[in-house]
Amino acid sequence: MTNKMWGGRFSDGPAQIMEEINASISFDKRLYAKDIEGSKAHCAMLAKTTIISQQDASKIVEGLDTILLEIENGDFKFSRQLEDIHMNIEARLAELIGPVAGRLHTARSRNDQVATDFKLYVRDMIDHFVTQLDGLQAALVEKADDFASLVMPGFTHLQTAQPVTLGHHLLAYVEMFERDRGRLLDGRKRLNENPLGAAALAGTPFPIDRDMTSKLLGFERPMGNSLDAVSDRDFVLETLSSLSISAVHLSRLSEELVIWATAQFGFITLSDGFSTGSSIMPQKRNPDAAELVRAKIGRIAGALQGLTMVMKGLPLAYSKDMQEDKEMAFDAFDNYSLMVAAMTGMIADLQPNEERMTAAAAHGYSTATDLADWLVRELNMPFRDAHHVTGEIVALAEKQGIRLDELTLEDMQTVEPGIKKSVLEVLSVQQSVASRMSYGGTSPTNVKKMAQQWLTRLEKRSSTS
Ligand code: ARG
Repeated sequence: MTNKMWGGRFSDGPAQIMEEINASISFDKRLYAKDIEGSKAHCAMLAKTTIISQQDASKIVEGLDTILLEIENGDFKFSRQLEDIHMNIEARLAELIGPVAGRLHTARSRNDQVATDFKLYVRDMIDHFVTQLDGLQAALVEKADDFASLVMPGFTHLQTAQPVTLGHHLLAYVEMFERDRGRLLDGRKRLNENPLGAAALAGTPFPIDRDMTSKLLGFERPMGNSLDAVSDRDFVLETLSSLSISAVHLSRLSEELVIWATAQFGFITLSDGFSTGSSIMPQKRNPDAAELVRAKIGRIAGALQGLTMVMKGLPLAYSKDMQEDKEMAFDAFDNYSLMVAAMTGMIADLQPNEERMTAAAAHGYSTATDLADWLVRELNMPFRDAHHVTGEIVALAEKQGIRLDELTLEDMQTVEPGIKKSVLEVLSVQQSVASRMSYGGTSPTNVKKMAQQWLTRLEKRSSTS
């Protein structure tokens, strides 16, 4: 049997394997609501411009509404022979309302149709991700507010560097997710131009009104070049690129949770809800959710890479290659959404082990910089000299197997006779974080203020959206 939709010049149907490689219905069916929305806008425009009669338009819209219900109720029979979502819907429309259905495709092609559907879909996904990121930020900010003054080691090279607060550390991620959110919303602006009306590639002789369909579909304006309109997939690439960067952030945070939850660190306990046991080792509490969030970046960055390869070297305008844009993107969208949801849950449930964190903060001579800064401030030493003197004092403490703040004043004076009693005040981790009052620094006062500002900002955001 030849294809009902385009089989006019064919005498034979496709080879079995052709049908299999060609069909996209198994995955593009998820565009159904967008396809119907786009078709209804197109139909309203065709009627308004009198390209089709109002009567026919009403029948078409009624038919499309019935199909929407059928699909949503699970009563719709998708057919692989009909290739894709566009032709499945159009064929059903013909069953429901007869030959009038064939008028819907006037001044339109599947090329501008699929670009429109996918754009509408990606736009919704961006809005969904932004809402999800708001939720993740809120969870992080609430924890940061609770633990604005809980001291923990700050690391460089994963070696103890200087004490910071847990609130400060968590707010670092709030900033990252804010930029991720900004990137998504920025891409949304560029995405929001309407491809519909480009037809197959060259535009159409029918007197269509592209401003009208743009308005109906929430686009800012029609795309200015019909060739570009049907062959552009930047909006998917850009979204995947923003998601990849965000997935990097999620992966880094996951890695920290995994490390912090080890017995060796013991900084946090992940909730039962986000841990699993081992079938052989009864003592285990595995951070599987964090590990999976850490890993799923592979799919997201993979989808970006995959679609980049698909688009590379494609001549204008549409080529069937572009049907390969969807599966990878859908998979990336589903998994990114899952990553954010799992991370939000883990953060909301997170229980820090305050004693372990604070104790660890004091290990590794974490206040050595504070000592060097004291030498600069109080003895007017050049920083390089102060660095050297501090190094010797650290070596002394190391030899005695004690912390810096456990050294006696006399011990320190053997290295630098000018050292006075007031040095002892700067060597505690509490004092160290409290002193870092510079804007953006880790002092609990700063962190509390920042957390409060974020809370207000996020609340305002959720009340205006
Ligand atoms: N299923 C196709 C896709 O996803 C729809 C567009 C088909 N256009 C065409 N000229 N064959 O790309």
